[in-house]
Amino acid sequence: MVTLNVNGVRHQVQASDDTPLLYVLRNDLQLIGPQFGCGLAQCGACSVLAEGREVRSCVMPVSAFANQEITTLEGLPARWAKQKGLSPEAAKSALHPVQEAWIEQQTPHCGFCQNGMMIKATELLESNPNPTVAEIKEAFTTSGPSPHLCRCGTYKAILEAVQHAATIMTQRS
Ligand code: FES
Ligand code: FES
Repeated sequence: MVTLNVNGVRHQVQASDDTPLLYVLRNDLQLIGPQFGCGLAQCGACSVLAEGREVRSCVMPVSAFANQEITTLEGLPARWAKQKGLSPEAAKSALHPVQEAWIEQQTPHCGFCQNGMMIKATELLESNPNPTVAEIKEAFTTSGPSPHLCRCGTYKAILEAVQHAATIMTQRS
């Protein structure tokens, strides 16, 4: 039995300690934003935030997260609402600015990689609200445990979406 705090909700799940966090999120908690891509910490499709830092949930054992706050793509709106102190009513209709930007810019192609792209963008903008182009490129390619891969080649669209999300967040700060 493992106790997890995911998107602000505590869950007790029946899983062995070495079960990858991704399997628990998708199969036990029905949180299907994180995707299984490579299973090798190479692509970023499975990314989630743990204590605000991006982690590759496909290779990390669930037991490593027993006392950590995990945020999945599904939890980004509530994360933003909490950070901004929105009322419960306002929070219900709020998307995270990163998600808004992705929709407004029509960023995804097939969409498979985009969970990880939005998680990475959130991590970046929480620590650096006004990143340069170089810093955005670095965040998605060379920082962290591995790059974020997109078979559809949406990298330029992602760069523009991160810039748009930064503008939205600044306007609402
Ligand atoms: S599925 Fe986890 S990094 Fe690719
Ligand atoms: S949008 Fe298709 S893999 Fe990135």
